[in-house]
Amino acid sequence: MTLPEHMTAVCIAEPGGPEVLTPCTSPVPQLGPTEVLIQVAAAGINGPDLAQRRGLYAPPPGASRLPGLEVAGEIVAMGGEVTDLALGDRVMALTNGGGYAEYVAVPFGQVLPVPHGWRLAEAAALPETWFTVTQTLVMRAGLRPGMHVLVHGGAGGIGGAAIQICSIVGAHAIAVVSDGDKASYCNRLGAIATIDRARENIVDRVMALTDGRGADRVVDLIGGALTAVNIAASARGGHIVQVSTLEGATANVPLRTIMAKDLTLSGSTLRPQTAATKAAIAAHIRDNFLSSLSAANWIKPAISTFPLAEAARAHAEMESRRHRGKLILLTAFGAANPAS
Ligand SMILES: NC(=O)c1ccc[n+]([C@@H]2O[C@H](COP(=O)([O-])OP(=O)(O)OC[C@H]3O[C@@H](n4cnc5c(N)ncnc54)[C@H](OP(=O)(O)O)[C@@H]3O)[C@@H](O)[C@H]2O)c1
Repeated sequence: MTLPEHMTAVCIAEPGGPEVLTPCTSPVPQLGPTEVLIQVAAAGINGPDLAQRRGLYAPPPGASRLPGLEVAGEIVAMGGEVTDLALGDRVMALTNGGGYAEYVAVPFGQVLPVPHGWRLAEAAALPETWFTVTQTLVMRAGLRPGMHVLVHGGAGGIGGAAIQICSIVGAHAIAVVSDGDKASYCNRLGAIATIDRARENIVDRVMALTDGRGADRVVDLIGGALTAVNIAASARGGHIVQVSTLEGATANVPLRTIMAKDLTLSGSTLRPQTAATKAAIAAHIRDNFLSSLSAANWIKPAISTFPLAEAARAHAEMESRRHRGKLILLTAFGAANPAS
């Protein structure tokens, strides 16, 4: 296949609201020796993309300035040191940026096969959130069968990944949501219970659901005043995994409770991790989760699709917080092959 020199992408014209996302023409990325070039069918939208668009989450040195941290598509070129992949492979990948485009170059260690039975538009919904939750909740916080896990933002991208990873591991996800529709969605994904944060007391419900022990693990993206709630809701030996701070980057932390309950509070951002770390996370997903994702009865995350050129509308939709699951951008290649 002869590759074009230029492609359509979505650029961030300047820091700001969704309207600063504009279709642009950009060079097709040059490949490094350990990279593959993916013709993008679909690109997932994630919370960090919103932060990058607002000018609050700069790409790490050397990464594409274009937004987009996950894609699914077909491999159309490979660097000389790439192993275990082939031209034409249908893949999903964690990118280092540049996913809102027709082509993206990705280190081959961050590339995974599309689960059996998944369309590319569905597979694009996985990498960013599954890598994040795998690294933090599973690899760092040691998620084990039988644990109770309090999952905030259960109907969103991160929350949905956390619920489904819990169900694969044999842990029990308790999802926090803001309405009944989102509760039903979380139950379909595998949550054993939901808590409506507008109407219910989170600590009381967690204690009732765990025979008074509390949650063994917490996945939090809210921060601020919720940190004290998480600590109160934690079981002895618990571990709170902080992946974002949507309601506040600082918190009053009751240190004595942390000591008395033997708690751990850890935080991490995925994007600046090394290629080796990202490859290790990919290997964990491949070895431990991919076969479950490929099962015939697996419940895929809900997706809503938008043309690539309408990235601004998709960001506005995400900021409205009406969505369940993931928002996905389709390139012309993806739109022309809806069943792929
Ligand atoms: N650490 C990392 O490496 C990493 C990686 C990926 C994402 N993140 C971060 O994780 C966060 C969630 O990302 P996502 O892709 O899962 O987003 P998302 O799909 O929009 O999900 C966020 C969920 O949280 C709930 N929520 C509660 N309070 C909120 C608030 N104040 N603002 C926004 N949502 C709120 C929302 O539903 P209700 O409002 O209905 O409860 C929604 O279901 C983002 O801040 C993102 O930057 C971090």
